[in-house]
Amino acid sequence: MIAVLALPKVFFLAFHVTAGLRPLDCDGVEEDGVRWDVVRSDLCHALGEVIHNGALSRDLHAAKDSKGRDPAVSYGDVQLQRHLERFQKLVLVLPERSRCPLGRHCLRILVSVLYSGLPWDAWFQRYEEDLWGLVHGTNWTEALSGGWPVFEVLFLVADLYGGEQLPEDCRSVESKLRALEKLIGDPEIMKHAAPLLRQTCPLARSAAAAALAAAGMRANGGRLQIGMSPGVDVGLLAQTQAAARLAAGRHSGGPKAIFAQPLPSLLLRLDTAHKKFHRAWMRRGRVDIIYCGQLDIEEKLQEICKGIEGECIVHFFQHNSSQRRAPECFQHYRSAGRMVSAAASVSASASWSTLLVSPSTWTWTEDSGRDLQKLLQERHKFARDVALAGLPTINRSKIFNWPVRRVIHKYWKLAYHEYATGHETSPFLPLAQFWAVGDTTSGTRVYGTRTFSSLMTRLEKQELEYVAALPGFEAFSRGDGARVPAIEAALASENEGAEDWFVMLDLLGKDAGLRAYTYLNGASLEDSYQSAARLSPRLSQTFHIEAAHFLPAKGSPGRPQEHCLFPYTSLAGSFTQTHGVVVSWCTRKFLHQMFRDVGGWWLGMDPLRHIIVPVSASVLNLYRSGETELFPWDADIDANFIASHPVVIGSLLEEHEETLKRMGYTYILRGDRVVFRTLEDTARMDIWISGPQDVRAFDIRARLCGVRVNFFRDQLMGSVWYYRPGEKIYGNTRGKLLHCQWKGHNACLPDCVRNGLGVGKDGCEFPDRFVHLFT
Ligand SMILES: *[C@@H]1O[C@H](CO)[C@@H](O)[C@H](O)[C@H]1NC(C)=O
Ligand SMILES: *[C@@H]1O[C@H](CO)[C@@H](O)[C@H](O)[C@H]1NC(C)=O
Ligand SMILES: *[C@@H]1O[C@H](CO)[C@@H](O)[C@H](O)[C@H]1NC(C)=O
Repeated sequence: MIAVLALPKVFFLAFHVTAGLRPLDCDGVEEDGVRWDVVRSDLCHALGEVIHNGALSRDLHAAKDSKGRDPAVSYGDVQLQRHLERFQKLVLVLPERSRCPLGRHCLRILVSVLYSGLPWDAWFQRYEEDLWGLVHGTNWTEALSGGWPVFEVLFLVADLYGGEQLPEDCRSVESKLRALEKLIGDPEIMKHAAPLLRQTCPLARSAAAAALAAAGMRANGGRLQIGMSPGVDVGLLAQTQAAARLAAGRHSGGPKAIFAQPLPSLLLRLDTAHKKFHRAWMRRGRVDIIYCGQLDIEEKLQEICKGIEGECIVHFFQHNSSQRRAPECFQHYRSAGRMVSAAASVSASASWSTLLVSPSTWTWTEDSGRDLQKLLQERHKFARDVALAGLPTINRSKIFNWPVRRVIHKYWKLAYHEYATGHETSPFLPLAQFWAVGDTTSGTRVYGTRTFSSLMTRLEKQELEYVAALPGFEAFSRGDGARVPAIEAALASENEGAEDWFVMLDLLGKDAGLRAYTYLNGASLEDSYQSAARLSPRLSQTFHIEAAHFLPAKGSPGRPQEHCLFPYTSLAGSFTQTHGVVVSWCTRKFLHQMFRDVGGWWLGMDPLRHIIVPVSASVLNLYRSGETELFPWDADIDANFIASHPVVIGSLLEEHEETLKRMGYTYILRGDRVVFRTLEDTARMDIWISGPQDVRAFDIRARLCGVRVNFFRDQLMGSVWYYRPGEKIYGNTRGKLLHCQWKGHNACLPDCVRNGLGVGKDGCEFPDRFVHLFT
C-alpha cells in the first residue's frame, strides 16, 4: 500500500458528529407476506435491467401499449415489464410500519418515479419522506454491504428528472466536479479530488469522496491509499453520505438538492465499483472438489481449478473395483467432507464453494469442465440466495434425465417424487428464469461451503441422537466424548455406496430447509445416483427410515427397499409411547401381514362357519383406517376367531402347526388365548379362539387389513361408549392425546394438545395418507 496524499484533519473530525443511524434489519425478515430478501434481490434485478441493460431507453411501455410492437423489444423486456407490474402491486400491500423501511422507500420511489405520472414538483413533495429515508434514515455503508440498490434508485430518479442545477456555492468548482467521473481509474484522481474534499460546498465534498471511493481509494488515518477490501472503503462512503446529508439539509428544495449532477452518476459508479471489488474479493476464496469413482479424471478436475482465483483443492480417489457401489467411495466422500468442514470451521468465508462430482458420472468431455466452471460462477454470483446448485443430467444411454425431485421423508419412509410440472420457481426474480427449484438436484452439485459444513455438523448430531435412541445402541446413549467415532464404527458396513452419501445429503438438506437450484444451461453426464442407492443399515439407522423408494413410481409404487429397526413389537410399541411418533413401518407391516395370513387361514378353513371379530382397540380401525390399513399409532391387534362348531384349541393348533410354520408363523398357547407370532418374533397378536357360538348374530360385516371381519350392533356401540374414539389417544392404558415428544422426528404424530390450547390447525390429523403402509 502506498500513502499518497495527506488530508486535512478537520475533514475527518466532521464525521464524528453525525448522528448514528438505525441499523438495517431486513435480512430474513418477512412481514405481511412480504419477504424483504426477495424484494432486495428483485429490485437489484429490475434496476440492473432498467439502468444497465438499456431497457429504459427502449421504452418500457412499448410492449404494453403499441399494437405494432417494436421487434427489438425482446421477450426479456416483456418479462421485465411484468416484473415491474409486480412491483406496482407489491407497493399497494407494503406494511405501513416496517422493520425494513429501506425496502419500503426503495420500492415506493422506483414504482412512483416510473409510473405515477406526477409533475416533478408534486412528485418530490409526495415522496419527500421516502427520499429523506434514503438520504438521512439509511446507513449507506450497511445498505451497500447488504446488497440494497440505494444508489441505483437515486441515480434513476436523477436520470429521469434531470433538472437540478448545482447550488450557488458550488458553481465555482463546477468544471472540476464534471471532470471527476472521467478520472475514476486514473491515478491523477487523487490530486484532483483531494482539494474538493475541502470545499465549503457539501455537494462537492460528497462527489469527491464518492469518486475516490469508486476509484478504490481508502482513507486511512488521514491519508488516501490504494487498498484491497471486500468493497469500497467504508470511511469514504461515510464521508460521501455525511456530506450529501448536509447538502440535502442546506437547501430549501430538501433532498432534491442531491440530484444535481455529477453526484448521482458518481454514486452509481460507486455502486458498480463496490460490486466489482466485492466480486474480486469473493473470488479469492476456496473451492474444494470431491470425487470418487471409476473415471480417471484427476487432471480434468485440476483444470476446473485453473479458472479459480484463490485456493482450489481436489480430493480425488479412483477405485477400480468392478462393482458400481464401492464402500471406499462412501468413506472418501465422508472423510473429504469432514476435512472441508474442519477447514471451514477455522476460517469460513461466504465465498467458499464445495463441488461434489457424482460417483455415477459415466464420462467426461470438454463441456463437462466448462459447464461446471459456469455452475461455480453462477452459484457464486447468487451465493446469498443459492446454497446448493446442480445441473440437468444425461445418462449413459444418452437419455436426458430431469434430476429435480421432491424428497419425502416421513413416518419411517423415504420417497423421491417427481414434481407435477418439473420443479418450483424461485421467488427471486433474477433466479426465476434460468433456474429450477426443488428439494434435490443432480449428484454433481455445488454447495456453499458454510452450508455444506453445517450439514456435516447436523449429520454428526443426527448420528448421536437418532442412532443412540434405537434398540441395540443403548451403549451410545451414555454421554461421553468418544461417541462419534464409536457410532461411526458401529454403522460402517460392507454394503455402502457413495450414492447413499448423496441421499444422506438430500435428507440433511431437506431437514435444514435447504432449496436445491438447478441451472438450466449445461448438463452433467451422470446416471441417476438414486438408481444405485440402497437403504443401507447406516442410512436407515441415522435417519430412521425403514422403507425407501429412491426412484419415482411409474404407475404403482412397487416394493420399497426395507430395513427394519425394531426386533420386537414391544420395542416398537414402547418407542411410540416414549416419543409420540407413529409405530415403526416394519412392525405395522409384520402385524398387517400376519393378520392377513393367519386370519385368511382361519376363514379359509371353513368359510361359512368361521368368522373373525376384532375386539378392544382393534375395533377402532373401523372408524380410522379404512379396509386395508391399521391406524398408525397402534402396535397391536386383538381379535376373536369364532366358529359355529365346537373347537378344541390345543388339538386344532397342533394339527395346523406345520401349515402355520410354512406361512412363517408359530404360536404360544395361554389358556383360551393364543399368541401368534412370526418365526423371528418380529410381531405378535393375541387371538381368542372359541366355538360353538352363534356366528349369525355377528351380522355387521367390514374388512380389516383386507380380511373379512364381523361385528354385532351392541358390540360397536359398547366400544364407542368405552373408547370415545373421536378423540385420538395413544399409549394404551395411560391414554395420552396424540402429541409428538421428539421435535423434528420424521414420524411425529399430529398434535392434539398444542401446548394446552387443544387441537391444532391440522385438526389432529395427518395431512394425507402417506403415513400408511401402502402408499
Ligand atoms: C453505519 O454502519 C456502519 C457499519 O455498521 C457503522 O460502523 C457506522 O457507524 C454507521 N454509521 C452511522 C452514521 O450510523
Ligand atoms: C486395483 O488397484 C489395486 C491397487 O490400487 C491393484 O492392486 C489391483 O490389481 C487393481 N485391480 C484391478 C482389477 O485392476
Ligand atoms: C437412462 O434413463 C432412462 C430413462 O430414465 C432409463 O430407462 C435408462 O435405463 C437409463 N440408462 C442407464 C444406463 O441408467
